[in-house]
Amino acid sequence: MSAPVMVASENGRRGMMAAMARLREGGSALDAVELACRIVEDDPDDHSVGYGGLPNVLGEVELDASIMDGATLRAGAVAAVQGYGRAITLARRVMEETPHVLIVARGAERLASELGETPQDQRTEEALRRWRERYDERGLTPGSTENLRNVARTLTRPLNLQDKIYKAARVDTLGTVNFIALDTHGNLASAVSTSGLGWKYPGRVGDSPLIGAGNYCDNRYGAAACTGMGELAIRVSTARSLVLYLKCGMTLRDAGREALRDLLALDAGAGQYMNIVAMTPDGEVAGFTTVPGKQYLYQRDDMVEPQLADRWMVE
Ligand code: GLY
Repeated sequence: MSAPVMVASENGRRGMMAAMARLREGGSALDAVELACRIVEDDPDDHSVGYGGLPNVLGEVELDASIMDGATLRAGAVAAVQGYGRAITLARRVMEETPHVLIVARGAERLASELGETPQDQRTEEALRRWRERYDERGLTPGSTENLRNVARTLTRPLNLQDKIYKAARVDTLGTVNFIALDTHGNLASAVSTSGLGWKYPGRVGDSPLIGAGNYCDNRYGAAACTGMGELAIRVSTARSLVLYLKCGMTLRDAGREALRDLLALDAGAGQYMNIVAMTPDGEVAGFTTVPGKQYLYQRDDMVEPQLADRWMVE
């Protein structure tokens, strides 16, 4: 018997509380991370995930998610899904009911329909208001499809790079939720869900649904999951790298810092950052970040509620 433990990105509080209750009843790590993600996905006030997520440059919400089972290394993921919520559940069904790992766009929407999911517009009034406001701030008009790549580039950048280098990017464009759980049977599972980069070019896919980049989980060595600018984690396979560093015998702290060094070697643009949460098979947790001021959530069995902790950086 293991004592249950969870670690998550900062926005995972409500999901973690429900999932920890499930783990304490003997529920599986897979069920716990799926449940936790769904709670955040359903929250219209979280504009980084699921229902109410920030739209792409055309005003469409495109969802990405992945889930991984540390006991078997099975994984499932969906990307660029429109018109259906709860992307994490769809990702789990890819893992459990298809021979595939990743299904995207029309294929994922077809699968959702086949599985009896109810289509639902994922846009909320508030998300659309924010979406239009950013066009206004930059003197642009929604609807023009000429040179969409330049419009997307302008809209995904912070307005004032000097003042808002971290804050604007975090608040306005980037966001994701991560959960890793250790259950009473000693199994690990990890889940990641996002609406991706706000105002992104249509069809852009970040790290969240890419196993190895934004999510990785292996009972033998540990698990890692990412938030931030997905392009960075894709380029250096951040989640898998951290777990591989653990496999090579590094401590959790050293493994996370080595994964950060891989990221810091990239030519990241202004406002582009990456965060990682991780857990070892015996339930040690940590958070890491390439920029100052970031925190993560964790909860152990003896804690009444999740606690925030500072993420480590490279010294
Ligand atoms: N980390 C989420 C994304 O880049 O889409």
